[in-house]
Amino acid sequence: MSNTTSLLLDWYHTNARDLPWRHTTDPYRIWISEIMLQQTQVKTVLPRYAEWFDVFPSIPMLADAHLDDVLKQWEGLGYYRRARFIHEAAQQIMSNFNGIFPTDFNDILSLKGIGQSTAGAISSFCFQTFTPVLDGNVKRVLSSWEHKTLSDKELWKLAQNWIETSQTPDIWNQVMMELGATHCGAKKRTCDLCPVAKHCASAFTEPPKKASTIKVLHVHWQVHVHQHQQQGIWLTQRPKQGIWAGLWTPPIVELEDKPEAKPDYIHQLTHRRIHLYLKGQQGQPAGSGQWFKSWEGLAVPTGIHKLFEQKV
Ligand code: ADE
Repeated sequence: MSNTTSLLLDWYHTNARDLPWRHTTDPYRIWISEIMLQQTQVKTVLPRYAEWFDVFPSIPMLADAHLDDVLKQWEGLGYYRRARFIHEAAQQIMSNFNGIFPTDFNDILSLKGIGQSTAGAISSFCFQTFTPVLDGNVKRVLSSWEHKTLSDKELWKLAQNWIETSQTPDIWNQVMMELGATHCGAKKRTCDLCPVAKHCASAFTEPPKKASTIKVLHVHWQVHVHQHQQQGIWLTQRPKQGIWAGLWTPPIVELEDKPEAKPDYIHQLTHRRIHLYLKGQQGQPAGSGQWFKSWEGLAVPTGIHKLFEQKV
């Protein structure tokens, strides 16, 4: 075991917070704790965690419950999508796994709302697998140690190497989350109290910046031009939420793969970049929409006027 590993395990054993999900290996209880903790602080989760099992004592009872009751029980925790996913995953467990929480990593990963990191947590805590957690806190700790901005691929590799230096992957994952929640916090760092400051390339200095999380989406804009030009162009109104909410655009189809061609337009958002490809379509368009003689006077996305002038 490396020196860093044993220093951290010692530190954890004497300093870790006493949290209820650290006293169980019951997958149902671990699963619910991990989902609650994804985007909600420990102090908010604590009272709600205990209450949850009074209302939904088992996976079959959760699966049988009405979604409204599940959402009601989630009140105050935020990001309600998590509650919908929990309900759906409980039903998946009933139909695919005979009502018993699966033990195989890929089966755990197949459950709604459970990604690689949460599956890693559940699997290590319940079944002692060497599957690392890589949430925001753990990423910050690892990139601090290296003092480098690291890609997700590099972070997963490092996380895997570190967990394998421990003999107790369940405790190791708790250690990393504990360090990220205490001495190596997002807002406050206390390097003077950190057990591994001397092994950390960012100790007492600025931590490295996070890697950019810009995601590129490739979309087709289906440009239907009416055969008898008088009727103009077919536009649909975007939903009230999401990109270009409420604006008028040609029908948009998200593409699975990156096309060979260069995009006709690139739309830059904070966490997304949209590569847009115009695609001429024949015939009467499907779905809701309207023919417009001109887009003038309509609310259309910025920059799109120019594109239309060039191409349509
Ligand atoms: N955040 C996510 N999982 C956690 C855990 N098991 N303990 C503390 N904080 C967490």
